[in-house]
Amino acid sequence: FSDWTGTDCLRLADYSPRKVETLIRKAEEMKLQHQRGTRDFPLIGKTLAMIFEKPSTRTRVSFEAGMTQLGGSALPLNRQELQWGRGETAGDTARVLSGYVDGILIRTHRHTTVEQLAKHASIPVINGLTDLHHPCQALADLLTLKEVKGELTGLHVAYIGDGNNVLHSLMEAAAVTGIHLRAAFPPGYEPDPAVTEQAKELCTATGGSITFTGDPAEAAEKADAVYTDVWASMGQEEEKEKRVKNFAGFQVDKALMDRAKTDAVFLHCLPAYRGLEVSAEVIDGPQSVVFQQAENRLHAQKALLDLLLG
Ligand code: CP
Ligand code: NVA
Repeated sequence: FSDWTGTDCLRLADYSPRKVETLIRKAEEMKLQHQRGTRDFPLIGKTLAMIFEKPSTRTRVSFEAGMTQLGGSALPLNRQELQWGRGETAGDTARVLSGYVDGILIRTHRHTTVEQLAKHASIPVINGLTDLHHPCQALADLLTLKEVKGELTGLHVAYIGDGNNVLHSLMEAAAVTGIHLRAAFPPGYEPDPAVTEQAKELCTATGGSITFTGDPAEAAEKADAVYTDVWASMGQEEEKEKRVKNFAGFQVDKALMDRAKTDAVFLHCLPAYRGLEVSAEVIDGPQSVVFQQAENRLHAQKALLDLLLG
């Protein structure tokens, strides 16, 4: 695994299809070990600094628990508590932390902030969500889809909702694994054109595809999985009312799930808002695998931590 050590995880497209396959396989091993209660401790004495500029439940707790389970420790930090919050540069912060710890996880607003940190750090930088990407989520999504569907290549996944960070990473995940992704969003909520173009290019090597529609029913038609995310992401709180209006008709409800295959699963990165992007009947119903998906954050990230920091 020497070609992994010390590398960053800024977006899923950083990884070749083979590397993503390795990550998923390792995540399956980590999960099995966890379930059997057999542990080895590859990260003894290692520390992960975790910088958060936005709230988090899953990312923060799964990374901290994951580091402990691998024999290391995690140090949660709020950017505002650091000198970074008072104007010290990202570059100086990265250089200083590189002398103390073995990896940096960061959740922030602008993706360029993470890129800057990675440029100046001599240790791995892991993106724990930016406005543009959420690669750790996509790894857990792939692990979950593989568990419930057996095979990733050729799956039909529908994404209904905002063209945001979660969709961007899902597009890259589909592209590197040969998944057919159909996304539906209202006008004005399209995903980033550059990320879209890059993901579509990656599809040519794997046989995956990425298509867009304005019609949720068309996206969900005969899908193996239906995925949605919040309509107003962190940092968009003041747009919530407007978005609730603009996303009318995009709720994943029973009628929409009925367009998908009878054995289709429902996915959501969480946190979820019942009655907005998803009905309670769907997210709390038999097709929902959202808590398995949330648990898989732990296993997928332990695989990532072991490869990058080990
Ligand atoms: N899905 C996800 O990243 O959850 P948190 O915001 O709770 O970390
Ligand atoms: N799109 C959401 C994902 C939360 C995990 C956000 O950025 O807030």
